[in-house]
Amino acid sequence: MNITITGGSGFLGKKLAERLLAANELVGEDGASSAVENLTLLDVVDPPEELKNDPRVTVLTGDITDRALLEKAIPQSTDSIFHMAAIVSAGAEEDFDLGMSVNLDATRNILEICRGNRTKPKVVFASSCAGFGGDMPRIIEDMTARTPQTSYGTQKVIGELLINDYSRKGFIDGRALRFPTVVVRPGKPNKAASTFASSIIREPLQGQTALCPVAPESKMFLASPRSIVQNIVHAHNLTANEWGFSRETTLPGFTMSIGDMAEALRVVAGNDVANLIQWEPDPFIQEIVNGWPPEFDTRKAKDLGFIQDTSMEAVIRDFIDDEL
Ligand SMILES: NC(=O)c1ccc[n+]([C@@H]2O[C@H](COP(=O)([O-])OP(=O)(O)OC[C@H]3O[C@@H](n4cnc5c(N)ncnc54)[C@H](O)[C@@H]3O)[C@@H](O)[C@H]2O)c1
Repeated sequence: MNITITGGSGFLGKKLAERLLAANELVGEDGASSAVENLTLLDVVDPPEELKNDPRVTVLTGDITDRALLEKAIPQSTDSIFHMAAIVSAGAEEDFDLGMSVNLDATRNILEICRGNRTKPKVVFASSCAGFGGDMPRIIEDMTARTPQTSYGTQKVIGELLINDYSRKGFIDGRALRFPTVVVRPGKPNKAASTFASSIIREPLQGQTALCPVAPESKMFLASPRSIVQNIVHAHNLTANEWGFSRETTLPGFTMSIGDMAEALRVVAGNDVANLIQWEPDPFIQEIVNGWPPEFDTRKAKDLGFIQDTSMEAVIRDFIDDEL
């Protein structure tokens, strides 16, 4: 299989690349598993050495807003594309033009290149629950109307609609996945408004204080990197018939208050660690988080065989095993 991951050096793109290379198989359009022959990683930053050194990996360093580079990343031989590159929520909110060009225009260019190739590749699009917002029902279902309250959310919703329409027209075999907020993210805080949800676990586990900009009773819809990556591969491997007419779903996650996340950290790592969380409200972040729905009904995804994390404690222990 010839596979391309945009955003292949990012948090989830890198984990997905590692998993695909380790498993060395992916289900093609004929329903049969095939080995990974080539994995192209496209990103503005280079992937880590371990990925670069794998003979199956081709590294393309550059900007997905560059159409010529995208054409190079998606030749006619491409079987599958995982479109993970994005300007994340607060970044797209701060810089409207950048968010539009990376999150929307480049997504459309990817789909147009697929259409031009006439090979109907599988395309898995990383979307977000930020597509829901504002005045919402208490529990969000897959068919709840999308009313995003950020430019990022709007760009992701348009991406989902395009994935559906390009699939309906037979240009691609698409799947759009709305991710919950993924915790715990390693490394440094990023520009996502949700970045604190990882910081309040990651920093204390490394003996550092973490500022929490929202109230403990604020709730979030969460999933671990392990379950997200497994679900991305599962989404790819399902057949077009199993997806049916709607090529989008919210991935399973769990809803938890930030205060309960801090308590889970206390259970796993003790009082001294949990006490390193400092509560300092930031109205800008609190308003964005208040606009996100906390409760989701992910029946469709569960019926399709997607997995769900078991507990926040397990997510924290997996983070310690995988990253620390
Ligand atoms: N992590 C989460 O909690 C979460 C939740 C919902 C949705 N998502 C979506 O999942 C995807 C991956 O998220 P992530 O957490 O790995 O983010 P990330 O920021 O770690 O990774 C995104 C990658 O895209 C790259 N990128 C950004 N602009 C680019 C450009 N113009 N050209 C080429 N590469 C570019 C970045 O360098 C980065 O490596 C994104 O589409 C994001 O919107 C993530």
